[in-house]
Amino acid sequence: MPPPIHPGRYIQHRGVQVPTFIYGTAWKEERSEALTRMALENGFRGIDTANQRRHYYEEGVGAAIQKAMAAGQLKREDLFLQSKFTYASAQDHRLPFDPEADYVHQVTQSVESTLAHLHTDYLDAFFLHGPLHPHGFCSADWEVWRAMEALQRKGKIRLMGISNIYPESLDQLLKQAEVKPAFVQNRCFARTLWDADVRARCRSHDIIYQAFSLLTANAVELQNLTVQQIARRLPCSPARVIFRFAQQMGMIPLTGTTNQAHMQEDLAAYDIELSKAELAMIENIAAPFQLR
Ligand SMILES: NC(=O)c1ccc[n+]([C@@H]2O[C@H](COP(=O)([O-])OP(=O)(O)OC[C@H]3O[C@@H](n4cnc5c(N)ncnc54)[C@H](OP(=O)(O)O)[C@@H]3O)[C@@H](O)[C@H]2O)c1
Repeated sequence: MPPPIHPGRYIQHRGVQVPTFIYGTAWKEERSEALTRMALENGFRGIDTANQRRHYYEEGVGAAIQKAMAAGQLKREDLFLQSKFTYASAQDHRLPFDPEADYVHQVTQSVESTLAHLHTDYLDAFFLHGPLHPHGFCSADWEVWRAMEALQRKGKIRLMGISNIYPESLDQLLKQAEVKPAFVQNRCFARTLWDADVRARCRSHDIIYQAFSLLTANAVELQNLTVQQIARRLPCSPARVIFRFAQQMGMIPLTGTTNQAHMQEDLAAYDIELSKAELAMIENIAAPFQLR
């Protein structure tokens, strides 16, 4: 196992060391263990998962972590582990909590089960996977958030995050939460200027924006001449250009690649640097056409 990714590849955020590239474990089923192990071996130290068996197999992720630690290749403090609470409505029948229990108990049961899956007694970050309804924070969301705040006070989770959030709901959360989110994790589309409205709020509230689906949500933009020309200049793949763009814009990208060459290719984003002009061009690559 190689040493942890270079110290310059972390940022300090609210007292926690956070890797600036995270490996995502969704949709890997029985390959979750092997692929997580491969990601660790290739240098990833941030691992994203969720206690949502429909899309994630947390136990497989945990088995990889446990084996790497048992082999003396890693210590818990080398890792940044994050998971999520997912409402029953977004789960299948394999629930990590009693759906009849109140939300405080659902969240507590979900976290305890995640800690067991990942063989740890704390999580570096824990997310509400998404508000119950797309627009606005409802009373259920508040109960969940308060339960997460209580778990943070108990030391079970270090930082709190919110995922799949629209600007107005984030405003509500920022206004009323006792513990403000440390992360937002959203699908990041070039055509929304890379989630510009949410990212602006993140910048002014000391929140780090985690970007997923950077490649899959922007397949057309990856083919764009500008991206292709920047990739040729460096030279590297358009995928690497987009990941580096995200990092230089202050986002933490996620990749869930299942391919070792792509893992190395993605992490090599650290080896390239885009100019300010290139960042601006990519930022506006799908900007809506403005009539003058
Ligand atoms: N909070 C949420 O609701 C939510 C939702 C979705 C995802 N996530 C998290 O984000 C993680 C990443 O998900 P994602 O949606 O970004 O997509 P993804 O599952 O990582 O898919 C990325 C795609 O890009 C390809 N790829 C990766 N690196 C490449 C490279 N260098 N060159 C060419 N192709 C490359 C992969 O193919 P190969 O496998 O062949 O490399 C894959 O088809 C998930 O695992 C999950 O942890 C969270």
